[in-house]
Amino acid sequence: MKKLYVVVAALIILIGGAVIYNMTATNRSEGDEQNLSSSNEDTHDDDNLEALGEQIDLTNQMNVSMDIADFKYEMPNIKVRVGTTVTWTNQDTVKHNVMREHDDDDVAHDPPTIDEVDPDEFVGPLLAKGESYSFTFKEVSASPYHCSPHPDMKGSVTVVE
Ligand code: CO
Repeated sequence: MKKLYVVVAALIILIGGAVIYNMTATNRSEGDEQNLSSSNEDTHDDDNLEALGEQIDLTNQMNVSMDIADFKYEMPNIKVRVGTTVTWTNQDTVKHNVMREHDDDDVAHDPPTIDEVDPDEFVGPLLAKGESYSFTFKEVSASPYHCSPHPDMKGSVTVVE
C-alpha cells in the first residue's frame, strides 16, 4: 500500500510541475509579443516624421491655405506664428480630414461631424471635394496631424512666437 502512495504522489508532483512550466512559458511568449509590437510602433512614428520633408517657413502670413490632393497634404511640414489660421481644402473625391496626433494614430477612427467640431480642438471633420476646414493656432506648439481614415497621411504645424 505504501508503494502506491509514493507512486501517486510522484505523479502528482510531475504533472503539477509540467502544468506550471507551461503556464510560465505561455506568459513569457505573450510578453515578448507585446514588447515587439510597441517597438514597431515607435519605429513607424520616427519614419513618418522624417517623411514629412523640409519645413516651410510661413511665419510672414497670418492666413495659410493648402490643398489636400492625391492623398497628400500640399505642405506637410509648416512653421507659422501664434494666431495664424490654417485652412485645408480637399481636392480629392475621397473624403479626408485633419486631426492632431494621438496615442492610437495608426488606427482608423471616427472624426467629428461638422456640428461636433470644437474650435479649440485641432480635430477636423471629414471633407468632401471642395470643402474646407480652418483652425487657428493660439499657442506655441508642435502639432503633428494625420487623416482619420488614412492614418499614413501625415502633416505637422510648428507654431512659434
Ligand atoms: Co485621407
